[in-house]
Amino acid sequence: MSGSSGAKPMNLTLHVWRQSGPSAPGRIVDYPAKGISPDMSFLEMLDVVNEGLIEKGEEPIAFDHDCREGICGSCGVMINGAAHGPMKATTACQLHMRSFKDGDDIWIEPWRAKAFPVQKDLMVDRGAFDRIIQAGGYISAPTGTPQDANALPIAKEVADLAMDAASCIGCGACVAACKNASAMLFTAAKASQLNLLPQGQPEKDRRVLAMVAAMDEAGFGSCTNQYECSAVCPKQISHDFISKFNRDYFMATVRATFQQAPAVTTGGGA
Ligand code: SF4
Ligand code: FES
Repeated sequence: MSGSSGAKPMNLTLHVWRQSGPSAPGRIVDYPAKGISPDMSFLEMLDVVNEGLIEKGEEPIAFDHDCREGICGSCGVMINGAAHGPMKATTACQLHMRSFKDGDDIWIEPWRAKAFPVQKDLMVDRGAFDRIIQAGGYISAPTGTPQDANALPIAKEVADLAMDAASCIGCGACVAACKNASAMLFTAAKASQLNLLPQGQPEKDRRVLAMVAAMDEAGFGSCTNQYECSAVCPKQISHDFISKFNRDYFMATVRATFQQAPAVTTGGGA
């Protein structure tokens, strides 16, 4: 086969979470995965197993995927207890089977979080992330036609930081890895990519307060600074964004409190 490394095919045993629907009970089912090329991606390996299941008239394993290039955020699953598997800064679709050894057992489960209910097998509903974005992850200022790149000067380090935050692909690994199922890394990244830039300033306070409210309403837990989130993040989003987001939230709360406080009047009276 063109492009193959010629490495010896592997035989593996998969232990896969199967669940026919959101309210159905789930269980782990074992499947052999035979003749797997080390050059395959993890999802290609699942494709091979699914082809075998379909040939036998069995229901294929449902899993989310789209780009298979590490950019859409669809494919996250727990692999041997780790979000996206054993390779740092790597989505499940970019994980190659050479990360495993011939004869390995591989346990594959969906994200586990109250706010990400299982839809089927390895697929979860990540609509809660969409609701956080709907609450404030945008700017409503008219931006007009594209401007010259130097029309609005932004310091290089600020632009770099905003770009780092914008690299979040919304995969949900941060939530899945957190013992509190907190969405703080995701929310902080999505808020910071706007809060750092001039275009994001007018709605900054409203954005931060609304995104936190949406996060709480969705049922995500609180952040207790464990930093499992940034450790598993395939885009290596830093937990420093959480500190920054906490400062933005504190300032927004203070300003909202003083804006709502009754005006203080001094003596004189009628
Ligand atoms: S912060 Fe990282 S782990 Fe969390 S959703 Fe974004 S890319 Fe995924
Ligand atoms: S399928 Fe798009 S990031 Fe994995």
